[in-house]
Amino acid sequence: MKKFIASVMFALTASVMASGAAMANTGGVPLEKANVNIHDQSSLQVGAKYFANYCMGCHSLNFSRYNRVATDLGLTNEQVAKNLIFTRTDGEPTKVGELMKNGMSQKDSAEWFGAPPPDLSLTGRSRGPDWIYSYLKAFYVDKTRPMGVNNTVFANVGMPHVLWELQGLQEQECTKHGEGEHAVEHCALKTVTPGTMSAAEYDKVVRDITNFLTYVAEPAQLHRKSYGIFVLLFLGLFAVLAYFLKKEYWKDVH
Ligand code: HEC
Repeated sequence: MKKFIASVMFALTASVMASGAAMANTGGVPLEKANVNIHDQSSLQVGAKYFANYCMGCHSLNFSRYNRVATDLGLTNEQVAKNLIFTRTDGEPTKVGELMKNGMSQKDSAEWFGAPPPDLSLTGRSRGPDWIYSYLKAFYVDKTRPMGVNNTVFANVGMPHVLWELQGLQEQECTKHGEGEHAVEHCALKTVTPGTMSAAEYDKVVRDITNFLTYVAEPAQLHRKSYGIFVLLFLGLFAVLAYFLKKEYWKDVH
Protein backbone atom coordinates (compact mmCIF):
# COMPACT_ATOMS: atom_id res chain seq x y z
CA MET A 1 0.00 0.00 0.00
CA LYS A 2 2.81 2.34 1.00
CA LYS A 3 4.50 1.68 -2.29
CA PHE A 4 1.28 2.40 -4.16
CA ILE A 5 0.77 5.73 -2.36
CA ALA A 6 4.40 6.67 -3.02
CA SER A 7 4.06 5.96 -6.73
CA VAL A 8 0.81 7.96 -6.94
CA MET A 9 2.52 10.88 -5.19
CA PHE A 10 5.44 10.61 -7.61
CA ALA A 11 3.14 10.62 -10.65
CA LEU A 12 1.27 13.66 -9.31
CA THR A 13 4.47 15.60 -8.62
CA ALA A 14 5.83 14.74 -12.05
CA SER A 15 2.67 15.92 -13.79
CA VAL A 16 2.55 19.16 -11.78
CA MET A 17 6.18 19.81 -12.70
CA ALA A 18 5.48 19.05 -16.35
CA SER A 19 2.53 21.44 -16.46
CA GLY A 20 4.68 24.02 -14.68
CA ALA A 21 7.26 23.68 -17.44
CA ALA A 22 4.54 24.11 -20.07
CA MET A 23 3.33 27.27 -18.35
CA ALA A 24 6.86 28.63 -18.07
CA ASN A 25 7.08 28.57 -21.86
CA THR A 26 4.34 31.14 -22.11
CA GLY A 27 5.44 33.32 -19.24
CA GLY A 28 2.59 31.89 -17.18
CA VAL A 29 -0.24 32.93 -19.48
CA PRO A 30 -2.86 30.20 -19.72
CA LEU A 31 -3.37 29.07 -23.31
CA GLU A 32 -6.70 28.90 -25.08
CA LYS A 33 -7.79 25.60 -26.61
CA ALA A 34 -7.34 25.63 -30.39
CA ASN A 35 -9.69 22.66 -31.00
CA VAL A 36 -8.26 22.02 -34.45
CA ASN A 37 -9.30 19.09 -36.62
CA ILE A 38 -6.83 18.14 -39.35
CA HIS A 39 -9.50 16.03 -41.07
CA ASP A 40 -11.57 19.17 -41.73
CA GLN A 41 -10.39 19.80 -45.28
CA SER A 42 -12.18 23.11 -45.83
CA SER A 43 -10.57 24.49 -42.64
CA LEU A 44 -7.14 23.40 -43.94
CA GLN A 45 -7.83 25.08 -47.29
CA VAL A 46 -8.78 28.37 -45.63
CA GLY A 47 -5.72 28.09 -43.36
CA ALA A 48 -3.42 27.51 -46.34
CA LYS A 49 -4.88 30.51 -48.17
CA TYR A 50 -4.36 32.84 -45.21
CA PHE A 51 -0.89 31.43 -44.60
CA ALA A 52 0.15 32.08 -48.21
CA ASN A 53 -1.28 35.60 -48.14
CA TYR A 54 -0.25 36.80 -44.69
CA CYS A 55 2.65 34.70 -43.46
CA MET A 56 4.76 33.33 -46.31
CA GLY A 57 6.28 36.73 -47.04
CA CYS A 58 8.38 36.08 -43.93
CA HIS A 59 7.99 32.41 -42.94
CA SER A 60 8.93 29.42 -45.10
CA LEU A 61 7.75 25.81 -44.84
CA ASN A 62 10.98 24.20 -45.97
CA PHE A 63 9.77 20.60 -45.62
CA SER A 64 6.55 20.92 -47.64
CA ARG A 65 6.04 20.82 -51.37
CA TYR A 66 3.13 22.71 -52.91
CA ASN A 67 1.86 19.66 -54.81
CA ARG A 68 1.87 17.45 -51.70
CA VAL A 69 -0.19 20.07 -49.90
CA ALA A 70 -2.48 20.25 -52.95
CA THR A 71 -3.13 16.47 -52.86
CA ASP A 72 -3.68 16.38 -49.10
CA LEU A 73 -6.02 19.37 -49.14
CA GLY A 74 -8.05 18.18 -52.13
CA LEU A 75 -6.88 21.01 -54.42
CA THR A 76 -5.72 20.79 -58.03
CA ASN A 77 -2.20 21.90 -58.97
CA GLU A 78 -3.76 24.76 -60.97
CA GLN A 79 -5.71 25.99 -57.93
CA VAL A 80 -2.52 25.91 -55.88
CA ALA A 81 -0.48 27.72 -58.53
CA LYS A 82 -3.15 30.43 -58.73
CA ASN A 83 -4.03 30.88 -55.07
CA LEU A 84 -1.07 29.83 -52.96
CA ILE A 85 2.09 30.63 -54.93
CA PHE A 86 3.27 34.22 -54.81
CA THR A 87 7.00 33.62 -54.94
CA ARG A 88 9.43 33.37 -57.84
CA THR A 89 12.40 31.07 -58.35
CA ASP A 90 15.12 32.39 -60.69
CA GLY A 91 12.70 34.99 -62.07
CA GLU A 92 9.99 32.43 -62.97
CA PRO A 93 6.89 31.82 -60.83
CA THR A 94 7.70 29.01 -58.38
CA LYS A 95 6.51 25.61 -59.68
CA VAL A 96 4.08 23.37 -57.78
CA GLY A 97 6.71 20.65 -57.37
CA GLU A 98 8.99 22.94 -55.36
CA LEU A 99 9.41 23.37 -51.62
CA MET A 100 7.46 26.17 -49.90
CA LYS A 101 10.47 28.44 -49.43
CA ASN A 102 10.44 32.20 -49.55
CA GLY A 103 12.88 34.65 -51.01
CA MET A 104 13.71 36.50 -47.82
CA SER A 105 17.31 36.44 -46.67
CA GLN A 106 17.70 35.35 -43.04
CA LYS A 107 20.38 38.01 -42.51
CA ASP A 108 18.28 40.94 -43.77
CA SER A 109 15.23 39.85 -41.83
CA ALA A 110 17.23 39.41 -38.63
CA GLU A 111 18.32 43.04 -39.04
CA TRP A 112 14.77 44.25 -39.70
CA PHE A 113 12.94 42.37 -36.95
CA GLY A 114 15.68 41.78 -34.39
CA ALA A 115 15.22 38.03 -34.95
CA PRO A 116 14.86 36.12 -38.23
CA PRO A 117 11.32 34.77 -38.87
CA PRO A 118 11.78 31.04 -38.18
CA ASP A 119 10.75 28.31 -40.62
CA LEU A 120 7.34 27.13 -39.37
CA SER A 121 7.47 23.54 -40.66
CA LEU A 122 7.63 21.98 -37.22
CA THR A 123 6.08 24.68 -35.05
CA GLY A 124 2.78 22.76 -34.94
CA ARG A 125 4.68 20.13 -32.96
CA SER A 126 7.30 22.16 -31.07
CA ARG A 127 4.89 24.82 -29.77
CA GLY A 128 1.64 22.91 -30.24
CA PRO A 129 -1.70 24.13 -31.66
CA ASP A 130 -2.93 25.79 -28.44
CA TRP A 131 0.20 27.93 -28.28
CA ILE A 132 -0.03 29.08 -31.94
CA TYR A 133 -3.76 29.83 -31.63
CA SER A 134 -3.32 31.82 -28.42
CA TYR A 135 -0.24 33.62 -29.78
CA LEU A 136 -2.06 34.87 -32.90
CA LYS A 137 -4.79 36.32 -30.66
CA ALA A 138 -2.45 37.88 -28.10
CA PHE A 139 -0.90 40.91 -29.85
CA TYR A 140 -1.45 44.25 -28.12
CA VAL A 141 -0.36 47.84 -28.70
CA ASP A 142 2.93 48.67 -26.99
CA LYS A 143 4.57 51.89 -28.17
CA THR A 144 7.88 50.96 -26.53
CA ARG A 145 8.41 48.01 -28.92
CA PRO A 146 10.04 48.47 -32.38
CA MET A 147 6.96 47.03 -34.17
CA GLY A 148 4.53 48.98 -31.95
CA VAL A 149 3.12 45.74 -30.55
CA ASN A 150 3.88 43.19 -27.88
CA ASN A 151 2.39 39.79 -27.18
CA THR A 152 1.20 38.23 -23.92
CA VAL A 153 2.11 34.70 -25.05
CA PHE A 154 5.53 35.62 -26.55
CA ALA A 155 6.91 38.59 -24.57
CA ASN A 156 8.87 41.17 -26.61
CA VAL A 157 8.27 39.33 -29.86
CA GLY A 158 9.97 40.61 -33.03
CA MET A 159 6.98 39.85 -35.29
CA PRO A 160 4.56 42.66 -36.24
CA HIS A 161 0.83 42.05 -35.78
CA VAL A 162 0.26 41.09 -39.43
CA LEU A 163 -3.44 40.30 -38.97
CA TRP A 164 -4.29 43.60 -37.25
CA GLU A 165 -6.65 44.75 -40.01
CA LEU A 166 -8.76 41.65 -39.44
CA GLN A 167 -8.62 41.53 -35.64
CA GLY A 168 -8.33 45.25 -34.86
CA LEU A 169 -6.05 46.52 -32.12
CA GLN A 170 -6.01 45.44 -28.50
CA GLU A 171 -4.57 47.10 -25.42
CA GLN A 172 -3.57 45.52 -22.18
CA GLU A 173 -5.45 46.73 -19.12
CA CYS A 174 -4.12 45.86 -15.71
CA THR A 175 -5.91 46.32 -12.41
CA LYS A 176 -4.43 45.83 -8.95
CA HIS A 177 -6.29 43.91 -6.30
CA GLY A 178 -5.30 44.07 -2.65
CA GLU A 179 -2.74 46.14 -0.82
CA GLY A 180 1.04 46.22 -0.37
CA GLU A 181 2.85 42.89 -0.52
CA HIS A 182 -0.31 40.92 -1.17
CA ALA A 183 -1.38 42.99 -4.16
CA VAL A 184 -1.99 40.94 -7.28
CA GLU A 185 -2.13 42.47 -10.70
CA HIS A 186 -4.70 41.14 -13.11
CA CYS A 187 -4.25 42.00 -16.79
CA ALA A 188 -6.64 41.46 -19.68
CA LEU A 189 -6.69 42.40 -23.38
CA LYS A 190 -9.37 44.80 -24.58
CA THR A 191 -10.20 45.75 -28.17
CA VAL A 192 -9.64 49.48 -28.71
CA THR A 193 -9.93 49.64 -32.52
CA PRO A 194 -12.26 47.10 -34.12
CA GLY A 195 -11.04 45.16 -37.15
CA THR A 196 -12.88 44.13 -40.30
CA MET A 197 -13.88 40.81 -38.67
CA SER A 198 -15.97 40.03 -35.62
CA ALA A 199 -14.21 38.26 -32.75
CA ALA A 200 -15.83 34.94 -33.77
CA GLU A 201 -14.78 35.33 -37.42
CA TYR A 202 -11.21 36.16 -36.38
CA ASP A 203 -11.08 33.16 -34.05
CA LYS A 204 -12.12 30.94 -36.95
CA VAL A 205 -9.42 32.30 -39.28
CA VAL A 206 -6.78 31.88 -36.59
CA ARG A 207 -8.03 28.34 -35.87
CA ASP A 208 -7.80 27.51 -39.60
CA ILE A 209 -4.21 28.86 -39.84
CA THR A 210 -3.31 26.86 -36.71
CA ASN A 211 -4.96 23.77 -38.20
CA PHE A 212 -2.90 24.17 -41.38
CA LEU A 213 0.35 24.51 -39.40
CA THR A 214 -0.59 21.45 -37.31
CA TYR A 215 -1.14 19.40 -40.49
CA VAL A 216 2.11 20.69 -42.08
CA ALA A 217 4.11 19.64 -39.01
CA GLU A 218 3.04 16.01 -39.49
CA PRO A 219 1.24 15.33 -42.79
CA ALA A 220 1.33 11.56 -42.12
CA GLN A 221 -1.34 12.08 -39.43
CA LEU A 222 -3.90 12.44 -42.19
CA HIS A 223 -3.33 8.89 -43.41
CA ARG A 224 -2.42 7.08 -40.21
CA LYS A 225 -5.98 5.88 -39.56
CA SER A 226 -6.31 4.29 -42.98
CA TYR A 227 -2.98 2.47 -42.48
CA GLY A 228 -4.42 1.18 -39.22
CA ILE A 229 -7.48 -0.24 -40.98
CA PHE A 230 -5.29 -2.07 -43.51
CA VAL A 231 -3.15 -3.51 -40.73
CA LEU A 232 -6.26 -4.79 -38.91
CA LEU A 233 -7.68 -6.28 -42.11
CA PHE A 234 -4.37 -8.03 -42.79
CA LEU A 235 -4.18 -9.41 -39.25
CA GLY A 236 -7.78 -10.64 -39.50
CA LEU A 237 -7.09 -12.41 -42.79
CA PHE A 238 -3.85 -13.84 -41.43
CA ALA A 239 -5.66 -15.21 -38.36
CA VAL A 240 -8.15 -17.06 -40.58
CA LEU A 241 -5.33 -18.56 -42.67
CA ALA A 242 -3.40 -19.57 -39.55
CA TYR A 243 -6.51 -21.27 -38.16
CA PHE A 244 -6.98 -23.41 -41.28
CA LEU A 245 -3.29 -24.21 -41.41
CA LYS A 246 -3.41 -25.38 -37.79
CA LYS A 247 -6.44 -27.56 -38.61
CA GLU A 248 -4.60 -29.04 -41.56
CA TYR A 249 -1.49 -29.86 -39.49
CA TRP A 250 -3.36 -31.46 -36.60
CA LYS A 251 -5.79 -33.37 -38.81
CA ASP A 252 -3.85 -36.66 -38.64
CA VAL A 253 -2.76 -36.34 -35.02
CA HIS A 254 -6.25 -36.58 -33.49
C1 HEC B 1 6.85 40.73 -41.45
C2 HEC B 1 7.37 39.41 -41.20
C3 HEC B 1 6.43 38.38 -40.57
C4 HEC B 1 5.20 37.98 -41.02
C5 HEC B 1 4.46 38.48 -42.26
C6 HEC B 1 4.75 36.94 -40.13
N1 HEC B 1 5.70 36.72 -39.16
FE1 HEC B 1 5.62 35.28 -37.71
N2 HEC B 1 7.42 35.91 -36.99
C7 HEC B 1 8.19 36.91 -37.54
C8 HEC B 1 9.40 37.06 -36.74
C9 HEC B 1 10.53 38.08 -36.99
C10 HEC B 1 9.34 36.08 -35.72
C11 HEC B 1 10.40 35.80 -34.64
C12 HEC B 1 10.05 36.61 -33.44
C13 HEC B 1 11.11 36.58 -32.35
O1 HEC B 1 11.84 35.58 -32.22
O2 HEC B 1 11.12 37.54 -31.60
C14 HEC B 1 8.07 35.37 -35.91
C15 HEC B 1 7.63 34.33 -35.09
C16 HEC B 1 6.50 33.58 -35.31
C17 HEC B 1 6.08 32.42 -34.52
C18 HEC B 1 6.81 31.87 -33.33
C19 HEC B 1 7.71 30.79 -33.77
C20 HEC B 1 8.48 30.19 -32.61
O3 HEC B 1 8.33 28.99 -32.40
O4 HEC B 1 9.20 30.94 -31.94
C21 HEC B 1 4.92 31.96 -35.08
C22 HEC B 1 4.10 30.75 -34.62
C23 HEC B 1 4.59 32.83 -36.19
N3 HEC B 1 5.58 33.79 -36.30
C24 HEC B 1 3.47 32.67 -36.97
C25 HEC B 1 3.14 33.54 -38.01
C26 HEC B 1 1.90 33.42 -38.77
C27 HEC B 1 0.86 32.33 -38.58
C28 HEC B 1 1.90 34.44 -39.66
C29 HEC B 1 0.81 34.80 -40.63
C30 HEC B 1 -0.49 35.06 -40.06
C31 HEC B 1 3.15 35.20 -39.47
N4 HEC B 1 3.86 34.62 -38.45
C32 HEC B 1 3.53 36.29 -40.25
C33 HEC B 1 7.89 37.66 -38.64
C34 HEC B 1 6.75 37.58 -39.39
